[in-house]
Amino acid sequence: MNILIIGSGGREHAIGKKIGQSPLVEKVYCAPGNPGMTIDGIQLVNIKETDHQNLIAFAKRMDVTWSFVGPEIPLLNGIVDDFKEAGLKIFGPTKAAALIEGSKSFAKELMEQFQIPTAESKTFTHYPEAKRYIEEKGAPIVIKADGLAAGKGVVVAMTLEEAVEAAYDMLEKDRFGQSGQKIVVEEFLVGEEFSLLAFVNGKDVYPMAISQDHKRAYDGDNGPNTGGMGAYSPVPQISEEIVEKGIEQILKPAAKAMIDMKRPFTGILYAGLIATTEGPKVIEFNARFGDPETQVILPRLKNDLAQVITDLLENKTVDLVWEKEGYNIGVVVAAEGYPGDYTRNMLLPKFSEADTTVYYAGVKEEQKNLVGAGGRIYLVEAFGETLEAARKKVYETLQSKNTAQTFYRKDIGLKALEGSHKEI
Ligand code: AMP
Ligand code: GLY
Repeated sequence: MNILIIGSGGREHAIGKKIGQSPLVEKVYCAPGNPGMTIDGIQLVNIKETDHQNLIAFAKRMDVTWSFVGPEIPLLNGIVDDFKEAGLKIFGPTKAAALIEGSKSFAKELMEQFQIPTAESKTFTHYPEAKRYIEEKGAPIVIKADGLAAGKGVVVAMTLEEAVEAAYDMLEKDRFGQSGQKIVVEEFLVGEEFSLLAFVNGKDVYPMAISQDHKRAYDGDNGPNTGGMGAYSPVPQISEEIVEKGIEQILKPAAKAMIDMKRPFTGILYAGLIATTEGPKVIEFNARFGDPETQVILPRLKNDLAQVITDLLENKTVDLVWEKEGYNIGVVVAAEGYPGDYTRNMLLPKFSEADTTVYYAGVKEEQKNLVGAGGRIYLVEAFGETLEAARKKVYETLQSKNTAQTFYRKDIGLKALEGSHKEI
């Protein structure tokens, strides 16, 4: 089989590497990909992820068996619908189904209608009403732009002033353009956050190992929100019982709800959850794999990923087997300045450590060297029998490299160690 992956980040690198390990697969293409991926034999295709017609033409010309979509934007642009219309196989939700990520108010309505546990909320398009509601509820409170905002459309406001200002910025000052003309004002949930993803095909839900992302830029969950600075899997402070509730009360009902709403979902469903004292509650749904969660989840999958996707596309059931022992951890190395304006073109170190894996994201090639070309540049990942052992491998690798003009969090996975072993 020849497989085409659409996207260019560390997530797509991890998906491409895993698919490439299958004996069924001859070639893995990635459009547009990044030059770091070629270390794993992934072939780059110089077509943008938004250029559906050229992607379709490429898939036909190169005899691609099926395609897989990494990021949300092509999904919400209807790439799955366009490929299917052209008679091509592709794994991912249709435009209609991807709305579970594309509109927070839609996701909220769905959860309310189907009694899926989530933070209490109300949707607004007029500032004065939003302000009144915020003042009535009090802080802390969470303000979310309805549409996509590259992870920046959420303000967790600790004070009333902050909350009112965020609502004003979105509704009156068009801070996020179209995405923020509608906002969701949501109850602040207290508890440990975790990501529960599943392969979904209509009503069939196949959960993955859970993981925990680190969204803030700096240690101790300080600084601005980012796309994600590191992750680990599994999450020992989240019990089996909570995960089971997440599957039974959230993922399965959500898949069923999408069928009832005439938007059947096929693809990766990602539930961002908070384990509250009342059980897990949803803070967001995504219609795709997470980045950097994927880089620590997929190494734990024992199945042949190409076979799994092939079976799902043929409407067969699958039996997923996940690594039960040890931990996988991944630490993102980002450009100085990220998530704001960031430094570029720094020469990146070379990696040859046998017990760590590197997944590349914002890189380009210059005179046969990889240099920085994005906010999140690469991620170093390792497996360890214990979380400490996995952390040690990743951080020892990073400490031995020249990481000038870049930064990384030193505390990825520390929450799971409950205050002990704080030092790396
Ligand atoms: P999101 O972009 O939806 O992932 O939100 C960004 C971050 O805001 C999340 O990772 C959470 O840490 C936080 N957050 C979102 N919604 C809530 C909520 N209802 N209560 C507490 N924290 C939240
Ligand atoms: N890491 C969070 C996301 O992919 O949305």
